[in-house]
This record gives sequence, C-alpha cells and structure tokens, in this order.
Amino acid sequence: MKPSLPSLLAHSQARFNDVLHTFLTEQKSVDARLYAAMHYAMSNGGKRVRPALAWGACIAVGGDWPQADSAALAVECIHGYSLVHDDLPCMDDDDLRRGKPTCHKQFDESTALLAGDALQALAFFALSKSALSADICNRQVSHLSNAAFAMVGGQCLDLAAEGQHLQRPQLEQIHRNKTGALIRAAASMGALAGNASSQQLQALDDFADALGLAFQVHDDVLDITSDTQTLGKTAGADIALAKATFPALLGLDGAKAYAQQLTEQALSALVPLGDSAQPLHELAAFLLSRDH
Ligand code: IPE
Ligand code: IPE
Ligand code: MG
Ligand code: MG
Ligand code: MG
Repeated sequence: MKPSLPSLLAHSQARFNDVLHTFLTEQKSVDARLYAAMHYAMSNGGKRVRPALAWGACIAVGGDWPQADSAALAVECIHGYSLVHDDLPCMDDDDLRRGKPTCHKQFDESTALLAGDALQALAFFALSKSALSADICNRQVSHLSNAAFAMVGGQCLDLAAEGQHLQRPQLEQIHRNKTGALIRAAASMGALAGNASSQQLQALDDFADALGLAFQVHDDVLDITSDTQTLGKTAGADIALAKATFPALLGLDGAKAYAQQLTEQALSALVPLGDSAQPLHELAAFLLSRDH
C-alpha cells in the first residue's frame, strides 16, 4: 500500500499552486514562448518538497504559513530551473520529467535554457518582493544564492564523474552540493522567515543537511528500483550514463540502509524543536518511502 501524503506536503502542494499562479500572473515577458516554457517547467506536477521544507521550518519555529511564501516560491524556482537545465542534451539528456516531455522537448533547447535563466532571476525577485524585514530578506538571499552556486558546482562534479569510480567522500561532496545545498537553503530560509533563534536555525540546518543527502541517495535508489511510469522520469538513466551513485558505490541494499541511517540522523536533529517539528518529522519519514 502506498504511504499517504503527509499533511505538510499536501498543504504545501495546494498552497504552492496558488502562490505560483499569483506570482507568474504578475510577471510580464516580452516573449510569450519563453513565458510558456517557464510556466510549463514550474507547473507540471513536482512534489514541492523544498517549499514544504520552507513552510515546515517556519512552522517549526513558531511562524505562520504566509511568512514563508516567498522562501517557498524562490527555492522552487531555483529547483525548477535546475531540473530544466539538468535534462538538457549537454547535461543528462533526458526526454521525460514529471511524466511529460522535458522542457527542451516540449519547446526547444534555447527556449529551455533561457526559461531556466529566467526562473533563476525570478527566484531572487520573489524574495525581494516579500514583506519580511530587510535583514531577513538579505539573509535569505545569501542562503539561496550560495545554495544555487553550490548546486551548479555539484552538477559540474556530477558530469565529470560519469564513468568514474569515486570514493565515498567525493560522492558525498557531489550529492551535498547538487541536491543537499538547496534543501538546506529551503529549511534555513523558512526558519529565518519565522524569526528562528540561532539554536533553532542550527537544529534545522542539521536536519536538512542529513535529509538532503538522504534525498539524493534515495533518488539514486529509485533510478534502479522504480519504473519510468511511476518515476515520471526515465528509470535506469543513471546506469545508462554510468553516473557515480550510491548504489554503484555501496550496492542497492547498502544505499537503502544509508538513506535510512541519514533519515534517522535528520529526525534526531528535530528533537530540540519539540512538537512543532512534527510536520517535518512526518515529511522526512515519507521521503524515505517515496516511490518517485
Ligand atoms: C529531483 O528532485 C532531482 C533531485 C534533486 C533528486 P525532486 O524529486 O524533488 O523532483 P520533483 O520536483 O518532485 O519533480
Ligand atoms: C539532480 O540530480 C540534481 C539537480 C541539481 C537537478 P539528478 O540528475 O539525479 O536528478 P534527476 O534524477 O534527473 O531528477
Ligand atoms: Mg543530473
Ligand atoms: Mg538528471
Ligand atoms: Mg537522479
């Protein structure tokens, strides 16, 4: 039986659609095709894990949903852009994303490239428009820009590692950068929006650090254990590209056990936050059992 969607994720998906719709409707582009590609990349059924982390972190420190709307929107715009570029022929060369043609297949390569560029710019515009204090906005911009920079570094290392047998520290470095950094930024930005104390920020960063690595390890596992229809992206793509992955390093069971261990580590980091972190706890447990 499929595990049911945790309420944090279900609410985040619904709220994100509203926040995204309002934001994109306000944006004007001189090019209708570019706008359509941006819309396509952002609206085609992502799980919205990073927005859920931003909202969940905000709630965990005593904040309320609207405070973290801009953080949720901004981090998902960066994520959306990263996926459009990740799928390009010069990167992972994928035809399927979220059960639909990838952005460059639906449109064309240059439009997809530019849609990713536009989403990156709009992520920071979204942060600049929020009603939060200038100090908090600044700190959010700092987290998100550092994470986006780390993500592209991780993507470079990921491409360079194709066909290579890496040692564990190198593989962890790739995963922490290409995926973990943005997941950490989501939690930190949400916590900042909720006026977190430095202890709360630290606990949430420890949580997201372990969760971010677990998330990519499980993504590597799903590439092997799931099928294209369930995944909504091409199963076996990592093997076809000889990607450096955790199953390649540790074996499938070893990778699964590692994702479990990291998730437990993430959950233990939430303990000091008490009951208000329960939604994040449920989200982290669900992510380990997700099938796509
Ligand atoms: C996919 O991310 C890419 C990784 C960093 C593993 P998600 O699994 O969050 O993708 P969507 O947004 O739900 O499609
Ligand atoms: C995703 O890694 C990292 C990004 C920064 C987008 P993958 O290449 O494993 O993501 P999928 O499997 O294509 O979603
Ligand atoms: Mg990739
Ligand atoms: Mg990929
Ligand atoms: Mg993958």
